[in-house]
Amino acid sequence: MQPQERIAELKKERNAVILAHNYQLPEIQEIADFVGDSLGLAMQASKTEADVIVFCGVDFMAESAKILNPGKIVLHPEAKACCPMAAMCDPSGVRMLKKDFPRADVVAYVNTSAECKAEADVCCTSSNAVKVVNSLESDLVIFIPDENLANYVQRFTDKNIIPWPGYCPTHESITLEKIEKLKSEHPQALVVVHPECRPDVIDIADSVCSTEGMLSYVRGSAKTEFIIGTEKEMLYRLGKEFPDKRFYEVPGAVCPTMKLITLDNILAALESMSPEVTLPNELMDKARAPLERMMSVGRGD
Ligand code: 13P
Ligand code: SF4
Repeated sequence: MQPQERIAELKKERNAVILAHNYQLPEIQEIADFVGDSLGLAMQASKTEADVIVFCGVDFMAESAKILNPGKIVLHPEAKACCPMAAMCDPSGVRMLKKDFPRADVVAYVNTSAECKAEADVCCTSSNAVKVVNSLESDLVIFIPDENLANYVQRFTDKNIIPWPGYCPTHESITLEKIEKLKSEHPQALVVVHPECRPDVIDIADSVCSTEGMLSYVRGSAKTEFIIGTEKEMLYRLGKEFPDKRFYEVPGAVCPTMKLITLDNILAALESMSPEVTLPNELMDKARAPLERMMSVGRGD
């Protein structure tokens, strides 16, 4: 029996739902009940009626699903699938910044640990970061952990943003030189990039958006060729939804930890009901409020 068939059987037996991020391998996107960006996945997780959520993505995404559903079982098929940018921020450093800037509101990009979220007033994703920051009372904002996203948001707000010096290695590898080379090879193509990219890449982009925002942008565009400045698997989703359009990937833009989720470990997780995401209740209660506040702001792209 193929792993896909056994996964389908177990999904029924366990009343499980499979949620997958846009950067997951094609075979995983194919078996998922829902494929989307961080915000879409959090929203799906919060409204699912399944008893078990199999989360195919990195650690902070699976943790958010658990925090939003403390009564459900959340399986993360490979516990080592972590986000290196989330690991660059620690709660004690955030507490120190809060002491230095007591008037500031704290915005935690969802790419953070539950402990860092618990220190925040509100979370955001790449889809609604600008909207979230502009919804705040204070004119001073501590923004963790992505400096590029913080600088991107600063372009659209009068508030002063104090960034944490974190970054995504995958998006840092997308350089201006690489984009310019692709532009010279495909002069008709529009440049669509993720806001985790470097400022000089953002400067030359035709559109800057979340992974789900990229799908809406392409859908609404009369153009047929696009250079995609984000993780390579996004091109699978785009190619599937828009078979008549052409997409060009940036060489080397791979998130290695996203690829640690496989059909085999999804199957093993459903068989053994592990590894399960577990977090202390007190921590989940503290981290839930900023996540729920983020979801009430809704999409921004
Ligand atoms: P999205 O929320 O846009 O899917 O981004 C998540 C992420 O980790 C980007 O690197
Ligand atoms: Fe984290 Fe970057 Fe991978 Fe997104 S692409 S999960 S930010 S390392």
